[in-house]
Amino acid sequence: MEKLTGLKKIKTAVFISGTGSNLKNIIKFSKIIKSPISIDLIISNTNKAKGLRFADQFNIKKKIFNFKDFKNIEKKILILLKKDKIKFICLAGYMKILSKNFIKKFDGKIINIHPSLLPKYRGLNTHSRAINNKDKFAGCTVHYVTAKLDSGRKILQKRIKITAKDDPTSLAKKVLKQEHKLYPAAIMKIFN
Ligand code: GAR
Repeated sequence: MEKLTGLKKIKTAVFISGTGSNLKNIIKFSKIIKSPISIDLIISNTNKAKGLRFADQFNIKKKIFNFKDFKNIEKKILILLKKDKIKFICLAGYMKILSKNFIKKFDGKIINIHPSLLPKYRGLNTHSRAINNKDKFAGCTVHYVTAKLDSGRKILQKRIKITAKDDPTSLAKKVLKQEHKLYPAAIMKIFN
């Protein structure tokens, strides 16, 4: 695949904590010729993350880091990233906050998807907060990761209408469907 383009894809790690639907979607995207990235490593903070099965399914290296000893764990992750020549990181439902030091080591090279129209609703429970506030729109945002939570520069954002029938679950489902379009589009935007 890479031979056809004559270009080397950027070695990328995806960090997850849960279902991994964005991970699966990014892996599929990475396999198309025009994708600027290849997924070479999957990192999870828990062995309970369902998304880890995609590592086996797509034959990608996976590593689980249990975050009880936070500082040393990040050091170990950095060593692994260096060893595997990872140059770019996609956070996809990764529910740990990375330290300032870690982010500095990958400055401008870590992106995240967040299920809200940032800067609205940083943090958790974005959909119930949007519904409780009677917002007309929810959405998702792909942004650069900085030391301040969910505050880095926006890359792409998608607005989704909230209807009277929506509850947090139905809204999360609608937003997730759009996340799967937005994340690859944001990656393309960065590297083109
Ligand atoms: C996604 O909705 C993602 O935006 C959100 O977690 C979900 C993960 O789904 N991320 C955050 O809330 C990060 N603050 P997935 O595991 O199926 O990709």
